[in-house]
Amino acid sequence: NTVDTSMLHYWKYFAKGIGYTLLISAFSVFFGFILGTILAFMRLSHNKILKAIATAYIEFVRGTPLMVQIMFVYFGIGLIINLPALTSGIIAVSLNSGAYVAEVIRGGINSVDKGQTEAARSLGLSKRKTMRYVILPQAIKNIWPALGNEFISLIKESSIVSIIGVTDLIYQLKIVQSDTYRGVAPIVVAMLLYFIVTFGLSKLLAYFEGRMKHAN
Ligand code: ARG
Repeated sequence: NTVDTSMLHYWKYFAKGIGYTLLISAFSVFFGFILGTILAFMRLSHNKILKAIATAYIEFVRGTPLMVQIMFVYFGIGLIINLPALTSGIIAVSLNSGAYVAEVIRGGINSVDKGQTEAARSLGLSKRKTMRYVILPQAIKNIWPALGNEFISLIKESSIVSIIGVTDLIYQLKIVQSDTYRGVAPIVVAMLLYFIVTFGLSKLLAYFEGRMKHAN
């Protein structure tokens, strides 16, 4: 079968592409988590200015396409310093993910019953200690699976970094297309690779989630 042979011949392109895709997604979910945590606490705080800044950031980032944000970061930073497309891509996807993760964390914290705070506070725990020892341990159970989903989303959503020339899976698929004059076969390969990775990850996450439930 000639289609198989020609696609197998290009396995290194696909491997490199999925490697970059995973790299961008992993870094971005990591930085997104850090940024998201900061934003979530800003938004939950009673400081009106911090709250307004975090809310504006989250709404703006979620209200504009990731594609535009990626172009803005790449060409915008490019006016000042010349950053590689990969770095720009990771920065843009992280900044984007932070806004989504902030809502995940805020939702996780808000999902803990108010009675928990009241009980802890009436037992004499400070606000900080209540958060640290009572709220967060319970919130994390809702946050962790949602973070896994964010990682899976990023694997798919990060495909848009190919527009600034990051050599991710989409970029590689286009190279294979023009090298082989095959329009569809490289798309099918990339599609299957995305699916194998996201499906595998979601099964893995479900497994760990199940174990977390039994551990408590
Ligand atoms: N596709 C949507 C957009 O372009 C969402 C992107 C980001 N999603 C995320 N979970 N970080 O705006």
